[in-house]
Amino acid sequence: MTILITGGAGFIGSNFVHHWCNNYPNDRVIVLDALTYAGNRQNIAPLESLENFRFVQGNIGDRSLIDSLLRAENVDTVAHFAAESHVDRSILGPDAFIQTNVVGTFTLLDSFRHYWTEKGSPENYRFLHVSTDEVYGSLGPDDPAFTETTPYAPNSPYSASKAASDHLARAYFHTYKVPTIITNCSNNYGPYHFPEKLIPLMCINILLGKPLPVYGDGQNIRDWLFVLDHCKALDIVIHKGQPGETYNVGGNNEVKNIDLVTLLCELMDELAPDLPVKPSKQLITFVKDRPGHDRRYAIDATKIKTELGWTPEVTVEEGLRKTIQWFLNNREWWQPLLSQEYQDYYQKVYGVSV
Ligand code: NAD
Ligand code: DAU
Repeated sequence: MTILITGGAGFIGSNFVHHWCNNYPNDRVIVLDALTYAGNRQNIAPLESLENFRFVQGNIGDRSLIDSLLRAENVDTVAHFAAESHVDRSILGPDAFIQTNVVGTFTLLDSFRHYWTEKGSPENYRFLHVSTDEVYGSLGPDDPAFTETTPYAPNSPYSASKAASDHLARAYFHTYKVPTIITNCSNNYGPYHFPEKLIPLMCINILLGKPLPVYGDGQNIRDWLFVLDHCKALDIVIHKGQPGETYNVGGNNEVKNIDLVTLLCELMDELAPDLPVKPSKQLITFVKDRPGHDRRYAIDATKIKTELGWTPEVTVEEGLRKTIQWFLNNREWWQPLLSQEYQDYYQKVYGVSV
């Protein structure tokens, strides 16, 4: 297989690149990443010396680059992760979300369509579009979990842009028969998670002895999935999924934000030596809510379980322990990410510096 992985220097993408190189050493892996603030070549640095590996710095919206890359490398599989991914940044500035998530995905899909047609429309080619549960909107406390047929109701510029890209991936299958597959996954966490997101932000702030900003009343619910479980699901979808289908991927781990942050504090107190503030839950601070903050997400992953045989393997506590240990062992990875750009962003969202 020759697989083009877009966004492979980001959080989930880089975990997936490691997963693929470890499990399929004979496949050729091409990583395409623009290296935005969220992309970090260090995440995949140990793989760059592999014979079958190539890193290309570039934008998914660059049509001539994509046209030539697909042909030069004889790509048969695209795993499309590249996106602007953070809800708070989409509220501050939606433009980049439209450009990358909508226009960029369109460019990639349309380039792949022409290339695939030119090749004689091979049946074994795949275009995996990696998406989010946020396209389904927000659940009430007693609503059933999202299934693949839940109507789309995105509430943030981020989720609206992902919804638009999902619709394009779907339309390319129905209109042109391009073998696209869509996955909609719940909240991931684990190694290489950029500090702006809830779990890494809390881990790092605990290590620095800084306030832990919990939005609103802390009662919002997310369905947490360890990132390697997500990578395994995507692997199975690429190998066994049906073109034109959508698969929901979730952790079956619904947790209220305040409970998650409290558990994280307890595990940090146990695992981290010499914390500046202990017990670290003293640092929990309720702050102004996120505008349009979705109350609850929950995934019904019955379809991927019954049709493809995937289930999550890692519990929240186990996954958090692994994640905390990773952040403790990799200070040299996260310290440089608390850059001026990050400080400016932090100031805009939280009104204080980290
Ligand atoms: P991330 O922000 O950590 O990484 C995104 C990567 O895409 C970065 O390496 C960045 O440099 C790259 N990128 C951004 N714009 C680009 C462009 N125009 N061209 C090429 N590369 C570009 O994101 P993530 O959390 O790893 O999410 C990956 C994908 O999974 C996204 O599509 C996201 O919507 C989806 N997703 C994320 C989660 C989650 O919990 N993080 C859950 C479900 C789905
Ligand atoms: O559900 C999948 C989505 O999960 C992905 O599509 C997104 O790319 C990913 O960023 C994530 O979105 P969320 O908005 O759910 O994740 P985030 O880590 O930003 O926030 C998780 C919850 O924690 C959410 O309810 C907001 C809250 N939160 C977040 C931050 C950063 C806080 O209370 N305080 C914070 O400082």
